[in-house]
Amino acid sequence: MSRRRRIYEGKAKVLYEGPEPGTLVQYFKDDASAFNNQKRGVITGKGVLNNRISEYLMSRLGEIGVPTHFVRRLNMREQLVREVEIIPISVKVRNVAAGSLSKRFGIPEGTPLPRSIIEYYYKSEELGDPIVSEEHITAFGWAAPQDLDDMMALSLRINDYLTGLFLGVGLRLVDFKLEYGRLWENEEMRIVLADEISPDNCRLWDIKTNDKLDKDRFREDLGRVEEAYQEVARRLGIFPEGGPGEVKGPKAV
Ligand code: TMP
Repeated sequence: MSRRRRIYEGKAKVLYEGPEPGTLVQYFKDDASAFNNQKRGVITGKGVLNNRISEYLMSRLGEIGVPTHFVRRLNMREQLVREVEIIPISVKVRNVAAGSLSKRFGIPEGTPLPRSIIEYYYKSEELGDPIVSEEHITAFGWAAPQDLDDMMALSLRINDYLTGLFLGVGLRLVDFKLEYGRLWENEEMRIVLADEISPDNCRLWDIKTNDKLDKDRFREDLGRVEEAYQEVARRLGIFPEGGPGEVKGPKAV
């Protein structure tokens, strides 16, 4: 294969120049990091599974009218995406207390939240991705009020849809992180969902046992990390048991 131009390399993914203008190839690595890069490791097979899981979830979201950057999966580790201008704000949606929210407010992990909570974080590795308010975002010009309105509305819609989708396969969507980008089409700008949705950026707990089936297994050294990613794919019906050709539908529980 000819050498492609590498546009960006992150902790878990690489972005290459795409085959047509306005497209990129998103390559999923097995590398894992946590605590702002202080903990690093490899989760064997994670890239292959996250490529499939994100393809599945972005496709379902696309079908209900959520605009995303996803075009199609190209192979085991790569997908074709639309090139967008990434908004430097991560959006976290939380349904159940866990992680940094539990720590910040002293709320025991697993406590259901009175309603879904949306948080914004400024994407800056050197600052450790600080939590920010809408005031910071609009005053510093990271996003316009209308962009934020769109991101908030899309995030709530994504939360409603994914909560139901995961519940159907016996998983509680505790929280997750989203990234958005700006896409220009005929002088018009649209906010679209970008990056990935996978057990790297979601907390997913088994509905019956509360077993963690996400990157917390890596963060907290809980063991069976690879198995957790495989289990999420299996429940969604996209884990190829008999090789890449054999993919069943979601398994209702
Ligand atoms: P937190 O509780 O550590 O703030 O994480 C909330 C959610 O966001 C959780 O599902 C993991 C995800 N997340 C990322 O995707 N990237 C990150 O850098 C962090 C800190 C969290």
